[in-house]
Amino acid sequence: MEEQKEISFRIYRYNPHFDKKPYYDNIRITLEKGITVLRALNFIKENIDSKLTFRAFCQAGICGSCGLKINGVSKLACMTQVFKELEDSKEENVILIEPLNNFTIMRDLVVDMDPLVEKLKYYYSWVNPKMPVHELGKKEYLISEEKFQEYDQATDCILCASCVSECLMMEVNPNYISPAVLLKSYRMNVDERDSMQKTRLKKVTSDGGVWDCTHCYKCVEHCVKNIDIMKGIQGLRNSGMKTVSKRSEGAKHAKAFITDIKRKGRLVEFTLITRTLGFIKPIFMLPMMIKMLLRRRVPPPSFMMSEIPRIEKVRKIFRKLKKKNF
Ligand code: SF4
Ligand code: SF4
Ligand code: FES
Repeated sequence: MEEQKEISFRIYRYNPHFDKKPYYDNIRITLEKGITVLRALNFIKENIDSKLTFRAFCQAGICGSCGLKINGVSKLACMTQVFKELEDSKEENVILIEPLNNFTIMRDLVVDMDPLVEKLKYYYSWVNPKMPVHELGKKEYLISEEKFQEYDQATDCILCASCVSECLMMEVNPNYISPAVLLKSYRMNVDERDSMQKTRLKKVTSDGGVWDCTHCYKCVEHCVKNIDIMKGIQGLRNSGMKTVSKRSEGAKHAKAFITDIKRKGRLVEFTLITRTLGFIKPIFMLPMMIKMLLRRRVPPPSFMMSEIPRIEKVRKIFRKLKKKNF
């Protein structure tokens, strides 16, 4: 007989029609090894509390609808083993179940996905075929194996929104494009059958877009399909720099970073603001600059900064990257 345990599921509950504020329910059930969190939730709904509300469909890690926070981390309920999860529980035999972060909660574990869907629409997250309309569906539009490899991994995304839930930038700016939509934009933009690369890039590289990503890597760490989302983000930045957004603040900021690291091996913060924002915008930052001056927190100008001791090593890395067309 399989190993059994009595487990407490501490579940976030909130029904905006009846509850003044959210609360946690503790539901104890005995489960055997091999059961997933989704099956446990289904058991609770069928046998203990039919009002418990959550989303799920395929039960196989395909549809992306069962994204939840399990013990504080965004995951797919249908792909998470209860017994395995117990190893990370803060309290013995207790599993914490909550809705995804960075979304409005509609009821219990169900969040409002509409803002994400709207972003997918706004950033043209589909292939707009180059092929003339009258030829569509009549002949194949073949792409090279090599080109397909560039975005093969990105096609694994099931839009579960776990990465969106973990994204630090989403926490401070809900209008930020989000890692999932960045990945989609990249996937569509490298598809040679698509005709909207420039239009999409213009949107992706504007305010709230790819330049706002803080490189925290949380999305990569938590992607349920192990997709290298950062490769997509970097890809969009590179194409943006080469085409539409050479003069955007984000592009200028990145360029200033690269120039400094190549020249000195460290940042020349003294001129970083003017090199990014020009000379007009920083005028509005004068009060902050005066405060820094008074506190003697002004970084040294470029001529007072020497190169780091092993600058040649840094330059070698840049030469290597250049060869790889990075
Ligand atoms: S790396 Fe960028 S997109 Fe990914 S979680 Fe961090 S801020 Fe969000
Ligand atoms: S990138 Fe990964 S975590 Fe994000 S929505 Fe797609 S599959 Fe889910
Ligand atoms: S139910 Fe479809 S991914 Fe979990």
